[in-house]
Amino acid sequence: MTRKLRFEIKSKDVAGRIGKVEINGKTIETPAIMPVYNPNSPVIPIDELQRVFGAPALMTNAYMALKNEELKKEYIEKGIHKALGFDGIIATDSGSYQLMVYGGVTTTNKSIIEFQENIGSDIGSFLDIPTLPDAYKPRAEEQLDITLKRAKDALDAKFLVNAGVQGGKYLDLRKKAAGEIGANFELVAVGGIVRLMEDYRFSELADVIAAVKSTIPTNRLVHAFGLGHPMVFGLAAALGCDLFDSAAYALYAKEGRYLTRDGTKRISELEYLPCSCPVCSSHTAMDMQEKDLAMHNLYVTFEEIRRVKQAIKDGSLWELVQIRARSHPRLLAALERMVEYPYLAELDPITKGSAFFWGGGESAKRSEIVNAKRRLLNVESDNLVHIAPYGDIPAELSDIYPFNSTMMPEENEIFGTARDIEKIKKIMDYQFGKGAGDLVPGNVKIVRSKKTRRIRRIYYKNELIASIRASDHMILPKKLLLDKLHKKFEKPRLRVVIDDEAVPFVAEGKSVFSKFVTGVDTDLRCGDFALIVDSKDNMVASGSLVLSPKEMLDFDRGPAVNVR
Ligand code: GUN
Ligand code: ZN
Repeated sequence: MTRKLRFEIKSKDVAGRIGKVEINGKTIETPAIMPVYNPNSPVIPIDELQRVFGAPALMTNAYMALKNEELKKEYIEKGIHKALGFDGIIATDSGSYQLMVYGGVTTTNKSIIEFQENIGSDIGSFLDIPTLPDAYKPRAEEQLDITLKRAKDALDAKFLVNAGVQGGKYLDLRKKAAGEIGANFELVAVGGIVRLMEDYRFSELADVIAAVKSTIPTNRLVHAFGLGHPMVFGLAAALGCDLFDSAAYALYAKEGRYLTRDGTKRISELEYLPCSCPVCSSHTAMDMQEKDLAMHNLYVTFEEIRRVKQAIKDGSLWELVQIRARSHPRLLAALERMVEYPYLAELDPITKGSAFFWGGGESAKRSEIVNAKRRLLNVESDNLVHIAPYGDIPAELSDIYPFNSTMMPEENEIFGTARDIEKIKKIMDYQFGKGAGDLVPGNVKIVRSKKTRRIRRIYYKNELIASIRASDHMILPKKLLLDKLHKKFEKPRLRVVIDDEAVPFVAEGKSVFSKFVTGVDTDLRCGDFALIVDSKDNMVASGSLVLSPKEMLDFDRGPAVNVR
């Protein structure tokens, strides 16, 4: 595979990520939305897409250009960037959409690939067949075989291939397709989902995305093909989609439809505008023309992407998805389905910057609770306290995340009391495993914060052996405890193994970059504190994971562990 994509993770929440993505020397941040530009009926001109909306990338149709002699000539002569007057990332589609809508196209896979190479697309597509969700299974299989054959023709394409995964609603076919596409392409496009979207079949949409995501390596950029309605961005991003494209803003405008983050309205039925974008601030519903509607639609589209990104930064993406799920029962059904996918708990950070907000029954299965319940198995205690929704938990743990920052409809009143030394021992067990607490000597000296009265530092015979992380009250062990953990828990437990080449840098306190991670305890989670060892299991340093174990093995760019 020749590499055309540079991708690293800046922030994570659920299976969503803020990515720094570089394609052909152009950098964008994901999740990102690519507005679709239709040269045959440009509702919003390109310079406005760039100037007003700051679109860093757009998508247009190479097949339509190929079938229009004038455009074809211009694109080939000037290159598509000059021809369109856009210097950001240009993604082109292959005519697959026309294949879906009209049942056929008059080009071949090889010619449309070659055309996209000739016009200089940054991202291009092969002619995948967008199988309809309900296609008869043998037909879905047959079409998938053709799609996968066509994918092979694009292996050496000059552009970054937007490689379509098809298979209709059949998850076994989706997984088979994702296995092949994910092994060979850096950008995986979940295709054939427009109909699911249009019909509000969000549970099946979630199933399809999850089938793909749980099959492909975590460092593949994921495009949800044709997913342009802001009401599903949160859900799709939480499942791990990075790129979206929207023809919807223009198509809906043509039909007099007004997008909102919780659904679609007919402009003819609106007396009041529930939006303060520049268009809605200066128009009434009555005097909105097609272009005005398209502008509004795009404003709310970009706005929701920004909201999703902020939620990822804050650690509140589940909360955003919960809120959106209340705008449509089918979105709620999708969320109820989504909490069942095991890969989310593997990728979701174990500690977050914002409180756990209960949003309804489905919250009981969120990844924070799945992960907490697993860790609770490490801890034995007779001193129990009831903290909803976790049940009876050791009172010694009631200060740590998530138990200390869970917002339920009714207040969790009875917080436990426990001796400091017991707290420290049980938190050690919770974080590192059964028996970790026994490593803490009995006669330690505890220093509290003057302001909050919480435990801050733990000394043994004047040596600092641990401090407490203020954000979540977890324990950060120092040398004496680290050595004991290293001795008690055998390889690979609690460890990130790094390439010997990186040892001198990490020993100095530099971050561990994922490129240098050669092994890791898969029970660790992003946010966990871990031991960093060399190939011979000598301890090099310690630090907090900023990626999940899978990610640090898959990615070869960006930091994996923040070294203390
Ligand atoms: N546009 C919307 N859906 C699809 C798809 O599945 N494949 C391609 N190539 N384009 C699309
Ligand atoms: Zn508006």
